[in-house]
Amino acid sequence: MDILGPAALVLSVTVILLSCWPVDSEPTQDKQALLDFLNQTHHSSHLNWTVSSSACDWVGVGCDSNRSSVFTLRLPGADLVGPIPPNTIGRLTQLRVLSLRSNRLSGQVPDDFSNLTLLRSLYLQDNVFSGEFPPSVTQLTRLTRLDISSNKLSGPIPFAVNNLTHLTGLFLQNNNFSGTLPSIDSEGLNNFNVSHNNLNGSIPASLSKFPESAFAGNLALCGGPLAACNPFFGSPSPSPGGPSGTPGHKKSKKLSTAAIVGIAVGCALFLLLLLLVLFLCLRRRQRRQPAKPSKAPAAVAGARSVPAEAGTSSSKDDITGSAEAAERNKLVFLEGGGYTFDLEDLLRASAEVLGKGSVGTSYKAVLEEGTTVVVKRLKDVTVSKREFEGQMAILGEIKHENVVPLMAYYYSKDEKLLVTDYLSAGSLSALLHGSRGSGRTPLDWDNRLKIAIGAGRGLAHLHRSGKVVHGNVKSSNVLLRPDRTACVSDFGLNPLFGTSAPPNRVAGYRAPEVVETRKVTFKSDVYSFGVLVLELLTGKAPNQASLGEEGIDLPRWVQSVVREEWTAEVFDAELMRYNNIEEEMVQVLQIAMACVSTMPDQRPDMTEVVRMMEEVNRADPDDGVRQSSDDPSKGSGGHTPPPEARTPPRGATP
Ligand SMILES: *[C@@H]1O[C@H](CO)[C@@H](O)[C@H](O)[C@H]1NC(C)=O
Ligand SMILES: *[C@@H]1O[C@H](CO)[C@@H](O)[C@H](O)[C@H]1NC(C)=O
Ligand SMILES: *[C@@H]1O[C@H](CO)[C@@H](O)[C@H](O)[C@H]1NC(C)=O
Ligand SMILES: *[C@@H]1O[C@H](CO)[C@@H](O)[C@H](O)[C@H]1NC(C)=O
Ligand SMILES: *[C@@H]1O[C@H](CO)[C@@H](O)[C@H](O)[C@H]1NC(C)=O
Ligand SMILES: *[C@@H]1O[C@H](CO)[C@@H](O)[C@H](O)[C@H]1NC(C)=O
Ligand SMILES: *[C@@H]1O[C@H](CO)[C@@H](O)[C@H](O)[C@H]1NC(C)=O
Ligand SMILES: *[C@@H]1O[C@H](CO)[C@@H](O)[C@H](O)[C@H]1NC(C)=O
Repeated sequence: MDILGPAALVLSVTVILLSCWPVDSEPTQDKQALLDFLNQTHHSSHLNWTVSSSACDWVGVGCDSNRSSVFTLRLPGADLVGPIPPNTIGRLTQLRVLSLRSNRLSGQVPDDFSNLTLLRSLYLQDNVFSGEFPPSVTQLTRLTRLDISSNKLSGPIPFAVNNLTHLTGLFLQNNNFSGTLPSIDSEGLNNFNVSHNNLNGSIPASLSKFPESAFAGNLALCGGPLAACNPFFGSPSPSPGGPSGTPGHKKSKKLSTAAIVGIAVGCALFLLLLLLVLFLCLRRRQRRQPAKPSKAPAAVAGARSVPAEAGTSSSKDDITGSAEAAERNKLVFLEGGGYTFDLEDLLRASAEVLGKGSVGTSYKAVLEEGTTVVVKRLKDVTVSKREFEGQMAILGEIKHENVVPLMAYYYSKDEKLLVTDYLSAGSLSALLHGSRGSGRTPLDWDNRLKIAIGAGRGLAHLHRSGKVVHGNVKSSNVLLRPDRTACVSDFGLNPLFGTSAPPNRVAGYRAPEVVETRKVTFKSDVYSFGVLVLELLTGKAPNQASLGEEGIDLPRWVQSVVREEWTAEVFDAELMRYNNIEEEMVQVLQIAMACVSTMPDQRPDMTEVVRMMEEVNRADPDDGVRQSSDDPSKGSGGHTPPPEARTPPRGATP
């Protein structure tokens, strides 16, 4: 007796208690299944499974209360050896708990386990099971705990694990599973471990909540609690989860295999590239006399297309002077930086996609020393290196409170990167249109006006002192500092694309003449800015289809509403909760309408626009009181709103 473990003792006590009920009753069929199992399996000698006694009294066997079927079978460390014979345990169809852990069971988990449909817990860890993830197990939809760790299972972890919707614990560690991790969405899953397998690729967002140790010891997993999958030079596709970072649920499940494989390939290429770059850098430093030029730029060039190309780069590349090669491998910093990172730091940084725009994809990159920057990967650049550098020099000089400074750039044949500050408060577009509805603090009028004026000042500065046309004014290019100071970004890039690429590709902001001439001007910036201000006033995205008619743009929509009835209809419903702001809004609306004049000559210039908006802002001296006050005698004077305004003109304040 005392040879048996405490678990068995507890069990036997239960069994003795149970035997107060009629002893004759016996789960005959289950008993036969158990006997068949034992007869064909090598086992230790202390199993007292005698034919004469009831199976419910046997070591390791538990029955239901009227002893009609076997509910639990626990034979941990029972010295069981060899494969589980088919058509034995699979016949115990009432089984709730099955534990065969810490034995030497081998072979595949039998297919007939799919008949154990009531099973809640399955413990098969610490055996030598081999083959693929047992397909029968994915049909046991009531499983809450599945432990098949520390075996020799291999192959992919099937997506069908998602069939097990009640899982709270899934333990797959210490096997030889390979491939990528499927997205496992079981809601209650709170214990998860796939460490020490052969997995590669990115960790799905649904699993990234688990600690690092749950993923350790794999071939090449990235993302989630581990280092992010670096997208630079790797796969051109965005990281899983997309810009929003939220799990893509049903849809992403479908495309996950292809996408994840792509990303995994990208990660591997990136690692290779990094090693190559480091190796070559070291070598160049050692040899003062650069006999051979670095091949790193060629590798950079090839990394995006086919890896083999890195090795077979044309001999022309090889004869290029090493000085140029070294230079090509460098980030060029613009004035006033004082930054200490270089291209390798950037490559090593963890990065996430911020967004895909008309000129390229933006990434947020967190460098190892903690600096966060935005890296924009330009596509379709057509100008020569010299022209590129010339434009960068111009842009690098622009320093203004309302302009996002350009820090650095990188130019090689196949990669053009821009590095700028990261502004943590996000873009105006996200603030204005992101997750509208409950739980969101709406952007109030004062902040909207402040943002409009800030962005206007930034643009005016570009025009006036930098002589730079922004060329891509839109709400996603107005970024905010934590104090809601607006900064314009992505400016002055149009010259890089020649005439091949249509400038300002977001249709809703494009001035009518730009559509024809494909040339952006100061006045076309003013038009786009006018659209942006209308966007702030109406809360409507200029390129959104919900403006009523198909294809109607925001200025024309505003015009049509205003022409019919000069009402507050055009204004964002979110603004209507504040009092006494309508007059200001009407004034700003008039300024915006002037900006979006069809004829460029009729548009004011940016400096003038900013001056007019600042006057609107100054007209009301008691900002603080205004929004909570219902007093109709307060309000801004000066400009008279059109007669049909819903709020009648108020007494002018001095
Ligand atoms: C088998 O062993 C268990 C525990 O040692 C004991 O409770 C049970 O009565 C035994 N059954 C028979 C049939 O001997
Ligand atoms: C065990 O199996 C053999 C044949 O494999 C059979 O002859 C024998 O009757 C079986 N014993 C029991 C107890 O089922
Ligand atoms: C006892 O067994 C019968 C079938 O023999 C079953 O219908 C019944 O639900 C069982 N009762 C309990 C309390 O388990
Ligand atoms: C499951 O049980 C049914 C009968 O109960 C049997 O016909 C079937 O073959 C079993 N499934 C497997 C995979 O053994
Ligand atoms: C998922 O579970 C259902 C039973 O609920 C089963 O019929 C199906 O075959 C399972 N799918 C897989 C892939 O195992
Ligand atoms: C693990 O699986 C790989 C194939 O995916 C195989 O080459 C390797 O030998 C396996 N390792 C062990 C320990 O079984
Ligand atoms: C996962 O399993 C490994 C190996 O057994 C262990 O070291 C690690 O602590 C486990 N992690 C978690 C989160 O369970
Ligand atoms: C990931 O693993 C799969 C299966 O072993 C393999 O085909 C693929 O090449 C691996 N990817 C990387 C990047 O190692």
